[in-house]
Amino acid sequence: MTEKVEIFEVGPRDGLQNEKRPIPTAHKVALIDLLSRAGFHRIEAGSFVSPKWVPQMADSSDVMGAITRVPAVRYAALTPNLTGYRRARAAGVDEVAIFGAASEGFSRANINATIAESLERFTPVAEAARADGLPVRGYISCVTDCPYDGPTPPAKVAAVAGRLMDLGCYEISLGDTIGQGRPDTIGAMLRAVLREVPADRLAGHYHDTAGRALENIETSLEMGLRVFDAAVGGLGGCPYAKGATGNVATETVADRLAVLGYDTGLDRDILELAAQMARDMRGGGRE
Ligand code: HMG
Ligand code: MG
Repeated sequence: MTEKVEIFEVGPRDGLQNEKRPIPTAHKVALIDLLSRAGFHRIEAGSFVSPKWVPQMADSSDVMGAITRVPAVRYAALTPNLTGYRRARAAGVDEVAIFGAASEGFSRANINATIAESLERFTPVAEAARADGLPVRGYISCVTDCPYDGPTPPAKVAAVAGRLMDLGCYEISLGDTIGQGRPDTIGAMLRAVLREVPADRLAGHYHDTAGRALENIETSLEMGLRVFDAAVGGLGGCPYAKGATGNVATETVADRLAVLGYDTGLDRDILELAAQMARDMRGGGRE
């Protein structure tokens, strides 16, 4: 039997958040509705962050209210604090994500907090989600390299991963935010993290800035990971990490996984349509 690998579609959030030009809510809804028919189990549909920090995600409540929900799909969103959590909950998201970093420089630039402060801030979010029965995912940015602090020590990633597990995250997504990871640095990072978190609770979130995301995915597969985040059409980046342009494209990952003999369960024709739609939405990102 073919082994399954899941692609977690993050295009509507990570892909679009970096676009400077306001994208009409209806276009975001159309993209999510198309993706909902492609066979994903989880789609990151938006982000309940400060609209001053990321204006593109200011309409996430409206997006959530307008999509046609497919029952087999869990619609997820970022929630950096309780304000974001309450907005996400009111909008009806199925799961939330708290997002920290393994480097102090990025943590401050992205969420205006030290790593320690961010974990304190996440605690009530995780508690509220647990009380409401919503799954919480944890992200760690800059798992190999930081645009502010340089190379990230693997032990630092492992320490933050352990803390996020303690907060009750069901899965930790490891972000190569600026796409500078290499199979050797990704491998070293994973060796350290796997001492804290089992492979079946980890996901790889690799940006493709240097064109190495697929190699890094292959290294991660060898080390037991079976979930990878990707953005249809290769959209994306992070506004607080210069050089973070380009999530690895979902359709490219799906094709490589198929060649490697893994089953993603995704409909290739719908993916292609969604990739085209996503590319049409692109225009003048911040990088
Ligand atoms: P802050 O300025 O320190 O927060 O920002 P604050 O609590 O002092 O609030 C400032 C203002 O924002 C207040 O409004 C709050 O009400 C409001 P004012 O009184 O000035 O009118 N506010 C909010 N409004 C709506 N929703 C909220 C919210 N929170 C506060 N949730 C904060 C701290 C975390 C809010 C801010 O830094 C922020 O929103 N950062 C988000 C940055 C972001 O979204 N980055 C991209 C996503 S992360 C990423 O892409 C990486 C990832 O893909 C993995 C990888 O690739 O590595 C996940
Ligand atoms: Mg990202």
